[in-house]
Amino acid sequence: DYYKEKYRPQIHFSPVENWMNDPNGLVYYKEKYHLFYQYHPYSNVWGPMHWGHAISTDLLHWQHLPIALDPDKKNGMAFSGTAVVDFHNSSGFFKDKSGLVLIYTSTLPDSAGGHQQQCIAYSQDDGLTWQKYKSNPVIKNKSKKDFRDPKVFWHQQTNKWIMVLVAGDRVEFYNSSNLREWKYLSEFGQNRGSHGGVWECPDFFPLQLKNHKYWILKVDVQQGAYAGGSGGQYFIGEFNGYDFVEINDFNQVNWLDCGQDFYAAQSWNELPENSGRKIWLAWMSNWDYANQVPTNIWKGAMSIPRYLELTKEKNIISLVQKPVKELEDLRCKEYIYKDLSVKKKGNLYFHNLKNPLEIDTAISLDENTKFDIIFEFKGNNLNLSYDNNTRQLILDRKDLSDGINSISKTKQITNLDNNNQIKLHIFIDWSSIEIFINEGKKVITALIFPEKVKLDLNFKNDGNSFLINNLKIYELESIWK
Ligand code: FRU
Repeated sequence: DYYKEKYRPQIHFSPVENWMNDPNGLVYYKEKYHLFYQYHPYSNVWGPMHWGHAISTDLLHWQHLPIALDPDKKNGMAFSGTAVVDFHNSSGFFKDKSGLVLIYTSTLPDSAGGHQQQCIAYSQDDGLTWQKYKSNPVIKNKSKKDFRDPKVFWHQQTNKWIMVLVAGDRVEFYNSSNLREWKYLSEFGQNRGSHGGVWECPDFFPLQLKNHKYWILKVDVQQGAYAGGSGGQYFIGEFNGYDFVEINDFNQVNWLDCGQDFYAAQSWNELPENSGRKIWLAWMSNWDYANQVPTNIWKGAMSIPRYLELTKEKNIISLVQKPVKELEDLRCKEYIYKDLSVKKKGNLYFHNLKNPLEIDTAISLDENTKFDIIFEFKGNNLNLSYDNNTRQLILDRKDLSDGINSISKTKQITNLDNNNQIKLHIFIDWSSIEIFINEGKKVITALIFPEKVKLDLNFKNDGNSFLINNLKIYELESIWK
């Protein structure tokens, strides 16, 4: 029974077996989405890092490919990085054609000095097999303990490749015209944003808001994030090809997710221009407990792909994440309702639904609106409660945190703005829940471990009667057949 183990994600990517962490090398090339990932092919916990590899034509259904990168004797393990399409053979690896190049961090084991340096590899067969560049590393490092996770992309205006990587408490920018020789440009981040832990996995890309192009710099912190443990933050600014200058100049940290399980997000390079989309996904876990997650024979899953937009409210620009449209193709059974009223102290039940599920709802709010949406997995409940007095939306996974109960936060708390309606777009799978709140202005991503696949959905009223303006429930078909 392929992909039918207990807790096995049905609508999310996970490797057939063994350990996975960060997404790496996301690139679109010759009509295929490539997904590489940090992988330990011989164990269900973190260890010597390889790059696993899969491809898709629709961002949903994935075909597994052979391992792309192995650790090597000289430079060590293959840590996180990116992939680019070298369209005009700037690297000289491809003889008049285009080709794929991976840029990654090689890391010697701590016992051998732990050096982290930047390396490249290229493929002569559109990504199936890989050669490491013979003169690796392309950026050397002797003194910095943390120096990793290069994100590389082509920058039209300066006609150069740009690299951003993390160096402990900051990011550093480099450029190159051939992917082999790199020049240091600038740095950003000391004393900016959260430094609860070392910085990891930067991403950097432009997004359009009306007539202006802003640059988004995403950086993860390994500890001390909003929801506890590791998590992502972002900065918005301008980039001239050399320096990044932040524009939203306030001291508050822009967190990416209000849950504990959205880490090391990376966006796809080279998406078709005319699609106008920027899409990313992340590893759904947290370094506080990633190795203890109660799944086997695999460990680790990716979030659903999300597309990114900017919004501006009260002069503050912020990032919005929404599920990609492709996911609509997974809908099989649907239940659509309008204007359902839930009486004071009442319950509204939808029985015997089959996970994975998508739920899209809009609920009217007044001062006394207070409700719980309870996912009753016949024995253990997942509770999503909202109180319009405190404007807090709280996911409580206490009953469903098998194996990580004592090492994770059970409550994921989101503070919302004043509004007369709350919109929730929810994707729930055999071991995760992703809640897009108010058109993706906030998101909660959390691992959950329900014992059962069938559930009852209960809207439980703790306040005055309220009105569900819209409710759509879809049972989703598995992406693994
Ligand atoms: C982030 C990270 C990266 C590193 C990789 C190692 O989760 O710690 O900084 O490259 O994982 O697997």
